[in-house]
Amino acid sequence: MLFSLTYSCQTLLSSFSYLKHNRLSRIKCGGPEVPLLTPEPRGNAYHIERGLEFSTGDAFFRQESATGRDLGVLAASLHKKDNGSLRVLDALCGCGIRSLRYLAEAEADFVAANDGNESYESTIVENLSRVSEIEEKRWVVTHLEANRVMMDYYLQKSFFDFIDVDSFGSDSSFLRSAICTLKLGGLLYVTSTDGFSSGGHRPHHSLAAYGAYVRPMPYSNEVGLRMLIGGAAREAALLGYHIIPLFSYYAFHGPVFRVLLRLNRGKIHDSRHYGYIGYCHKCGNSHEFSWDQLGQMSCSCSMPEVSKSLVVSGPLWTGPLHDAAYLMDMLNLAKQWGWIGCDGKDSLEKLIKVMVDESDPKLRFGYIKLDEMSSRAKINSPSLKTLMSALHQKGYAASRSHISTNAIKTNCPMTECIQIAKELLQFSTT
Ligand SMILES: C[S@@+](CC[C@H](N)C(=O)[O-])C[C@H]1O[C@@H](n2cnc3c(N)ncnc32)[C@H](O)[C@@H]1O
Ligand SMILES: [Zn+2]
Repeated sequence: MLFSLTYSCQTLLSSFSYLKHNRLSRIKCGGPEVPLLTPEPRGNAYHIERGLEFSTGDAFFRQESATGRDLGVLAASLHKKDNGSLRVLDALCGCGIRSLRYLAEAEADFVAANDGNESYESTIVENLSRVSEIEEKRWVVTHLEANRVMMDYYLQKSFFDFIDVDSFGSDSSFLRSAICTLKLGGLLYVTSTDGFSSGGHRPHHSLAAYGAYVRPMPYSNEVGLRMLIGGAAREAALLGYHIIPLFSYYAFHGPVFRVLLRLNRGKIHDSRHYGYIGYCHKCGNSHEFSWDQLGQMSCSCSMPEVSKSLVVSGPLWTGPLHDAAYLMDMLNLAKQWGWIGCDGKDSLEKLIKVMVDESDPKLRFGYIKLDEMSSRAKINSPSLKTLMSALHQKGYAASRSHISTNAIKTNCPMTECIQIAKELLQFSTT
């Protein structure tokens, strides 16, 4: 074995309810119709995701990550539709569920499924054989260290349209080899599960991993996404490229920070979207600081003194988290596939729509938690809907956050938000 793996999470497996082997061969709840080959049952544990049956064997698998997989498959399929071909590298594939879905749903021409654990081989092969026989050469299974497999392909000049890096922790060490192995215009779908770093509890660790010194902030889960995008932006710049985030997704379980980035040719010399963010504990306002403001960071509540109450994190990505037009294309595809309207209250439709709202270019980084606002104002908070419409009436941009349900993304400072909330309260009591 070339590396040490973290298997503590495997204990989670025992809490999942496995479905008995049920040889389904068509898609339930929509999805592109794909002929599925059904190998003989092996007395193994089986799951069904978007109508596709697969075995998890002994591999690490989380049912809760299905939304992250849905988003990846939609993006991969759009890439195939736009470019006519799709080569996918699933660098840490576990049981191979993503590879299976890229083959079956996104109609990938070729998928390289890799997982460092050799004992998953028969499970991965069994799963992929459901879509296409091994002889058809639409997929290959390897068991190399993820950096090794990516660099091997790079050295062979065998590049990919879509690379999925579904790692544990803050595995930023995969970023460079993934970027090297991606085609220009290709899509990189990367993960961090490092909630300690995004929460500002390990600033020296986040500095080493992503080049960002991260301090505790009320919107730390958004900071986690920005830290990851910033780390990828830095690696891309080093290689002479730049990245554009197409969507950014935070999920509570894990926690999981996932971003889909498009790799483009050329460095961007304007560092507008790569800088510092500050949060003032005294007044609750947030500030963005550019590189030429280094040494002059202060909050207006304590001017002209140095603001001891100001905590600063960065450098990290301060630009848009998503591309609204791209998200709409994903939503339309999800509708076409019949994925909309069949998944209850935490639906994919709701998630993508909130992400679209979050893409308003007038919105800044972070969000205002209503609990924090009401405790600063010493009032009961108005409802999220009421406050949002008051903010809109005052000309501010405001949207829900897909990260925190009781929070508002807005370009209105906390101090002004408190005033508006107090006015609403007076109005409601008179
Ligand atoms: C989060 S799991 C992958 C889950 C899978 N993508 C899914 O959606 O179900 C991470 C996987 O990476 C593998 N792994 C961990 N470190 C690795 C490394 N350095 N190189 C290759 N595989 C690795 C583990 O064996 C594990 O299966
Ligand atoms: Zn302040």
